[in-house]
Amino acid sequence: GKKGIVMSGIRSTGFLHLGNYFGAIRNYVRMQEEYSCYFMVADLHSLTTHPDTKELKPNVHRVLAENIACGLDPEKVALYCQSHVYETAELYLLLNMLAYKGELEKTTTFKDKVRQHPENVNAGLLTYPVLQAADILLHRASLVPVGKDQEQHLEMSRNFANRFNHRYGEVFPEPFAFNFGEALIKVPSLDGTGKMSKSENQYATIFLSDTDDLIRKKIMKAKTDAGPSAPNMPMPDYIENIFLLMKLVSAPDTIQKFEEDYNKAAIRYGDMKKQLAEDMIQFVAPIREKAESIRQDQAYLKRIMEMGAEKARISAAATMEKVREAIGL
Ligand code: ADP
Ligand code: NA
Repeated sequence: GKKGIVMSGIRSTGFLHLGNYFGAIRNYVRMQEEYSCYFMVADLHSLTTHPDTKELKPNVHRVLAENIACGLDPEKVALYCQSHVYETAELYLLLNMLAYKGELEKTTTFKDKVRQHPENVNAGLLTYPVLQAADILLHRASLVPVGKDQEQHLEMSRNFANRFNHRYGEVFPEPFAFNFGEALIKVPSLDGTGKMSKSENQYATIFLSDTDDLIRKKIMKAKTDAGPSAPNMPMPDYIENIFLLMKLVSAPDTIQKFEEDYNKAAIRYGDMKKQLAEDMIQFVAPIREKAESIRQDQAYLKRIMEMGAEKARISAAATMEKVREAIGL
């Protein structure tokens, strides 16, 4: 049998980036053999902040293609589009009765989104963590591979699951953020502030679709300084971030060389960034090329989504039977 039920998703709001890869997709791929996996493209979630739907379908296709290009096998997992699994909406409605306005308003991501989109503070945005809980609980998943930014949402999912179980009877396992027992990942942005993300400073984020030249340009522009003025100085955050990125894509002896140079106060950040850019290109280019070719095959992507939705709806229907029975609907 399989080791456990896994669920995670990525919004279809644009291009995927290194944060999505190292925080989420890498673990999807690592889990696909031994676990029972549900991975979705969150198109409904994207409507909370992207009401213009012209880009919706192309973005769904892009996220699917990029996931497959990263090594996800649609035969081994259920890879589906959120809006195709209608049961999601029913569970979302029921969980909304268990979510309090006060706790939703305190959510960090809600406060961030209000700051980014003051003109469109809708109820969907406020109840985003409820929809996310519905996505996860719909498969009675307990393992959720996500990046560090999702920690608070997972805690909310657990709260909703526990409240449901307490009020109506035991249906849901508690879902936890998962990274094989390691700390959750946060891939930092190149400008020394915050994390890489689809929506904030585009120049500080490396996308899986970036050309070689663009990767070079972005990395060479990353914030550095004149270097440490004496041996064994503490590292500023923005330099630590460059080392962090190097640890994701470069060979151990490369990293060690630059660490030694830093500790001897002999580091040349220009050389370090050149090396990082080349290693990053080695990593990104094959994914970019593969995703580009998958994206051309619309019929294939359509077939994948149909197959994924079919698998997801079997699991969703079984859960909803338990849910309705527990509530007495
Ligand atoms: P974004 O924040 O770029 O819009 P999503 O919200 O769709 O991306 O997140 C998809 C997945 O990627 C989530 O599991 C999230 O935790 C992860 N993720 C996003 N950005 C980062 C990052 N900078 N570092 C680590 N993981 C990240
Ligand atoms: Na995110």
